[in-house]
Amino acid sequence: MSAPVLTFFNNKGGVGKTSLLFHLAWMYVQMGKRVVAIDLDPQANLTSAFLAEELLEELWDPPASANTAATTIYRAIQPLTKVGDIQAPIVQRVHPRLHLVPGDLALAGFEDQLSAAWTAAMDSNQNNLYRHFRLLTAFWQVAQMAASNLQADLILADVGPNLGAINRSALIATDHVAIPLAADLFSLQGLRNLGPTLTVWRADWRRRLDNWTVPDFDLPGGDMRPLGYILMQHMERLSRPVKAYEKWVDRIPSTYCENVLGLKDCGPVLRDDGNCLARLKHFRSLAPMAQEARKPIFELSSADGAIGSHAMAVRDAWTAFNTLALAVEAKIGQRQT
Ligand SMILES: Nc1ncnc2c1ncn2[C@@H]1O[C@H](COP(=O)(O)OP(=O)(O)O)[C@@H](O)[C@H]1O
Ligand SMILES: [Mg+2]
Repeated sequence: MSAPVLTFFNNKGGVGKTSLLFHLAWMYVQMGKRVVAIDLDPQANLTSAFLAEELLEELWDPPASANTAATTIYRAIQPLTKVGDIQAPIVQRVHPRLHLVPGDLALAGFEDQLSAAWTAAMDSNQNNLYRHFRLLTAFWQVAQMAASNLQADLILADVGPNLGAINRSALIATDHVAIPLAADLFSLQGLRNLGPTLTVWRADWRRRLDNWTVPDFDLPGGDMRPLGYILMQHMERLSRPVKAYEKWVDRIPSTYCENVLGLKDCGPVLRDDGNCLARLKHFRSLAPMAQEARKPIFELSSADGAIGSHAMAVRDAWTAFNTLALAVEAKIGQRQT
């Protein structure tokens, strides 16, 4: 049995994908779940959120003797770029119930090979397909190896802000997609690109699965089912009049419905349309405070500096992420039964 994969996706940078994933992972740990986080963004921001700098240096610049250990996502798949096969990843145990497959800047160099494998997977010669499918599903294979060791309930995948071949491979490894967005023109425009891109990737992956009639290892279905969106209110420019903000908020439900769900005639969709998983407030100075402490905002204590009104904001953050975690869990549950 494979563990379900959830990816936060948006082709715009800085909307809060990485920070959302970091917080949700810790919230699920608090709720007693077992989680694998995998960092598929070559910028590796999620990895630096979880791990101390000294450890990062060891992972990314290991002594020559440890050079082939699969300590990052890239090192786990690197043998595939030559003649070898995927190596079981050496995960970082952030918590007994939270394991991280660290990211790697070198992952960026994998883009061209994934692009070539995508075309080659439509090859009509069945004998050639093993390698191409191995490459295209490498992220999924590595994530599942890590999940099976931990007996994880959920895999959370972090990706960079683009629609390239690395992200396409990350998305074919994905069962559920949630879209963090802001109430602005860029985010709405983004949904108009993102929705159709997911539809094309899903269909193109199905064609490839159909092309390999005798696969000799497990393959992901590439369902990328949209779970909903998360409105990130920290992106809001404080100087902007409330009316301008409301105008964009009002447009999100129908833009999401038409472009991501692919439905026609969404009509005047209600503001609270069931696709909005959560609205996350601006956490102000708690965000850098938490980054510094390498903790989720909702676990900040007075020792970290969260005193007075900050302590109240910490409790609000707990409620917000707990609500989000339950909403995501419920939606994933509905999809799987
Ligand atoms: N709700 C929030 N309140 C305050 N700051 C936030 C919030 N969510 C994200 N941020 C900050 O916004 C910046 C970009 O977030 P990040 O998660 O790195 O975005 P992405 O992964 O989409 O590029 C980070 O500095 C992060 O701490
Ligand atoms: Mg990020």
